[in-house]
Amino acid sequence: NRILVLNGPNLNLLGTRQPEVYGRTTLQDVETACTSHGERLGFAVECMQSNHEGTLIDAIHAAKGVQDGLVLNAGAYTHTSIALMDAIASVELPLIEVHLSNIHAREPFRHRSYIAPVAVGQICGFGAHGYILALDALVEHLGKKRS
Ligand code: DQA
Repeated sequence: NRILVLNGPNLNLLGTRQPEVYGRTTLQDVETACTSHGERLGFAVECMQSNHEGTLIDAIHAAKGVQDGLVLNAGAYTHTSIALMDAIASVELPLIEVHLSNIHAREPFRHRSYIAPVAVGQICGFGAHGYILALDALVEHLGKKRS
């Protein structure tokens, strides 16, 4: 039982980056909370962050056959990356899309997600707690699939 929590560009700056938008929780805090919550759910949670599109794609490829599912905050690549969308579609692993902010209440260019069509679902607007909601949703989805 394994889940990969993947964070994209600029999320390494969480806590100090536009805290009025993204909150004061650091990426380290988010990752620690995900690992602990995973343990409660009976899943080993692995966390990784990269500012590089290709590195994120490599991580998605490497997850195939290793992880049971993914939680992804692709940052701004959400709105631009057909390559990430294709990578997710290629590995056929369930993925929950997460955003700290409510992307639909922000600039029009953030309303479009290339991740959404290949995700089980999208969670946005709940700050760092969104990652916990995403883990719950993924585990629930995996349970349904197995039964
Ligand atoms: C984000 C929303 C994106 O539009 C933005 O580019 C980010 C963070 C979020 O978590 O709210 O980098 O994914």
